[in-house]
Formats: sequence, structure tokens, C-alpha cells
Amino acid sequence: MSNGRSFYITTPIYYPSDLPHIGHGYTSVAVDALARWHRQAGDDTWMLTGTDEHGQKMLRAAAANGVTPQEWVDRLVQESWFPLLETLDVANDDFIRTTQPRHEERVQQFVQALYDRGYIYAGEYEALYCVGCEEFKPEAEIVDGTGPFEGLKVCAIHSKPLELLQEKNYFFKLSEFQDRLLELYRDEPDFVRPESARNEVISFVRSGLKDLSISRSAFDWGIRVPWDDTHVIYVWVDALLNYATAVGYGTDPEQFARRWPAYHVVGKDILRFHAVIWPAMLMAAGLDVPRGVFAHGWLLVGGEKMSKSKLTGIAPQEITDVFGSDAYRFYFLSAIAFGQDGSFSWEDLSARYQAELANGFGNLASRTVAMIERYFDGVVPPSAETTEADERIQRTVADAAEAADAAMERFRPDEAITAIWTIVDALNGYITENEPWALAKDDGRRARLGTVLYTAAEGLRALAVLLSPIMPAATEKLWVALGADALGRLVDQPLREAGTWGGLRPGGSVNGLAPLFPRVDQS
Ligand code: ME8
Ligand code: MG
Repeated sequence: MSNGRSFYITTPIYYPSDLPHIGHGYTSVAVDALARWHRQAGDDTWMLTGTDEHGQKMLRAAAANGVTPQEWVDRLVQESWFPLLETLDVANDDFIRTTQPRHEERVQQFVQALYDRGYIYAGEYEALYCVGCEEFKPEAEIVDGTGPFEGLKVCAIHSKPLELLQEKNYFFKLSEFQDRLLELYRDEPDFVRPESARNEVISFVRSGLKDLSISRSAFDWGIRVPWDDTHVIYVWVDALLNYATAVGYGTDPEQFARRWPAYHVVGKDILRFHAVIWPAMLMAAGLDVPRGVFAHGWLLVGGEKMSKSKLTGIAPQEITDVFGSDAYRFYFLSAIAFGQDGSFSWEDLSARYQAELANGFGNLASRTVAMIERYFDGVVPPSAETTEADERIQRTVADAAEAADAAMERFRPDEAITAIWTIVDALNGYITENEPWALAKDDGRRARLGTVLYTAAEGLRALAVLLSPIMPAATEKLWVALGADALGRLVDQPLREAGTWGGLRPGGSVNGLAPLFPRVDQS
């Protein structure tokens, strides 16, 4: 059912030394929802996620735990990072680990190509390094330490002391790409989104680019520089290349041509790596730059950027154990404007779960199915003559489906959900106004009762399709309850036709529906 349109989308590859928290989960469910949407719309979709396993941060964490770095990352990936995908119901097509041979060999090949093209040279370097960021810090991100770090220079993000490093390094001629990058941002206004991120990147590049140190010699947990085995490749150069090595760069030209270029969704903390360094590396190698980079905001807990190192970390499973994976996905994707910061609180999560999922959507589904069971022996009735109110629902569904698709194209799952929710609200209002329970008392109004319940059930059919990328589990239950499996599997329903009225066939049997979003006991 592919329409030939390629849609390749990635999450950042996470550092496995941190345990997964809701910030990682946020990016992953957003990317998964976008990928599911495009996949179900028939686009030739590929979703990639993975782990970033080299560098000093990983080496130190392993040493602190008394194991080799490889043992350390193997354990964490098995015990924490693969399970995260199950916890959040993420349907990734691939998972790349930067310690895999398929990656390591191609990274060397890429770096060698840049060297051969004259974009890499040897030089001396002395600068302040943050191991938390795995980055030499620019002036603007260095602040004075406080408390135990009084008198030291610390990283503005991690609030931990910086280390003065003095090494012979290989450098990438990033400074040569300033003009071409600015042209890229000008010619492709959507290359960096949202607007605030784009402006930040443009002003950063305008202020001048320095060449980038791309090797380290003080430790050896990394990929060797091919022409000098006393150096390993800088972890960010290694990491960014995952997006290319995972889809066949250097090994499978057909696969690479089919998938590349990608859309990258990242947190705004790593925007510059993706929107400045990465496209410059690709330009230097003569490859296409990404289709675009979307930077979302930070999840804040108690007003601070949530992070494990600052002890505000919350594991995704703490949420899914209570509310389920669908609620997790719905909550983070609907409650936060994608691209802006958002505050997480248990109170907000639980209020929205109750109002929007349990009372709004779940209850609409349960009562519609229950009324078809009660009044029509569980068989979906046909629609008779329609009224203005029925047609209004049909228009709401058509408009919402179109608006949701447009929002997903703009990388705005929050706006897509807002559009889809107009159907939930309209149908709840429609049932209240049309009072099927009153119609059921009057035999002469049976045809009207059928029309009202068909309209509600058909609206739910559209909701199941439109919400399946956001809430795959609940919509699957609803699909079965509506007897819609006669139309085929939910994930095979063409998304861009979800708003076409009349998909659900009268005469099909509904099946009892347990509450989609059961009451949560909050003791
Ligand atoms: O930076 N709010 O990995 P990382 C929202 N390995 N998103 C958050 C978040 C928060 N509070 N905290 C983390 C790295 N994230 C590199 C990436 S890519 C080639 C290499 C999410 O484990 C967000 O997506 O530190 C952020 O960009 C990412 O986790 C950082 O993950
Ligand atoms: Mg980080």
C-alpha cells in the first residue's frame, strides 16, 4: 500500500548510562506517533532509534561500576533501553547501537572520506570540556560554580565543573561551512523548526563558526581514527553518523537512496549538533543534508529541566504502571505544544486522564456500544434520512481528519490531537442532544434511533483510525468492539481517508467493550 513517498524519521540515540526517564520517553513517543501516522498513510516509512555508547561519560560510568565499557553498555541496553520501547509501545523499524560493527566500520569510512577531501587537519587544542555534554563548551555556556563548586568554572546545563583539556587533535573545517549553512536555512525555511529554534541556529552560525575538534587521544573508548590509531573519533561525530550508517551508508546504496535524507526530532539541548555540525559534515562528504530538524522543548518537573543527574528523574514505567502506555502517549503529546517546554505534574496527568480519556473518549465509546447492544441486539443499525445535526457530525469528522493530517505534516501532534478531539466533543454533544434513550421508548422513532447510533458508531470508527498512531492499544480494542475488524486490521486503514463518511458497515456486530480507560485508584 506504499505510495512511494519516503518518510525516514529518527530519535536521538540516547546515552545508555542514564536510566530512561520521561524526557527520553517523550521524544520516543512523539517520533513513534509521527512514524505510525505516515506508515498508516501509506508513506514508505522507517523509524530509527538507538543508543550512543562511546565516549568519556560511558567509560567513567563503567569504571565506577567495576566493569568494562562494553559489558556496561550491553547490560544497560538489555535491561533498560530495549524494555523502554515495550513500555511505551514504540514500533521502531530498527535500533542502532554505536558499538555495532555495521556502524563502526562506516564511521571510519566516512571520516576517512572527509580526510581525503581535505576537510580534516591536525592541530593543538586547549579548552574546557563538559563530560556531561561530551562537548568543549563555548564561552557563553560557562558559568561560575556555587556551593561545593565555588571558585570553579561549571557547565551551565549540568552545573558540574569543566575539565581543562590540552591535546593534539584532529579538526574538522566547520568554519568553511558558515555561508553554505546560512544559505540552507534561508532556502529551506523548514530545515530547522520551530521558528524559535531556527532563529537561534541562524544567529549562532552568523556569529561565526570555529573548526571542530573531532578526535580524542586521552582515552580509547571509541572508534579509532583510521589513519592514526592513537586517536578515537569524537563521540558526537560518531553518534551523528548513526542516522546514515543505520540505513546503509557505505554498504547498501539502494537502501541508502531509498531512505536518506531523514527527519530528525531532538530535544533543544542538542539542536546545534543536528542543525549545524551534522549538515556541515554531510556537505563535506558530498551527501544530502537532512530533510529537517525539529527541536522540541524540555519537560520540566517542579520548574526545572527534568534530568536524572538532578534527581528530578521519573521513569516512564512509574506512569504506565498506573495509567497505561496509551495515556502516557496521549498526555505528553497533547498537553505540551510540540516545540515548547512543558511542565509535568501527576495532578495534571491524572486530571486529563479522567476528563479527556475516561469521561470524554472512553465513555463515548462505552455508551455507544452499549446502546447498540441494548437497542439493536448488538447489530450496527443503518442510517436513515439524515438531519442537519447528523451532517454537522459528518463535516466535523471530515474537517478534523484533514486538519490532523496537516498538523502531523507540520510535526505538531498536539495540534493533531486538538483537531481530532473536536470529534469526541461533537459526538458527546450530539448524543446528549439527540437522547437515544428517549428515542428508544418510541417505536415510531426507531429509524431515527438507528441513524443516531450509526452516526455515533461511524464517528468512533473515524476516531479509532485517527487516534491509532497516538493510542495504539485502546483504539485496537475499540476497533474490535465496533465490529470494524470486518474492514481489515486497524493499522491497515488508510489514514488520509479516515474522514470519508460511511466506512462502518451496518449489519456488523458490536462486541461488549470493557472501559477503555478504567478508573485509576490513587491511593
Ligand atoms: O544527548 N525534556 O543523549 P541523551 C525533554 N547521546 N526531552 C528530554 C529531556 C527533558 N527533560 N531530557 C532528555 C544525547 N530528553 C546524545 C544524542 S544523537 C546523535 C546523540 C531527550 O541521552 C531529548 O530528546 O542525553 C534530548 O535531546 C535527548 O533526550 C538527550 O538524550
Ligand atoms: Mg543529555
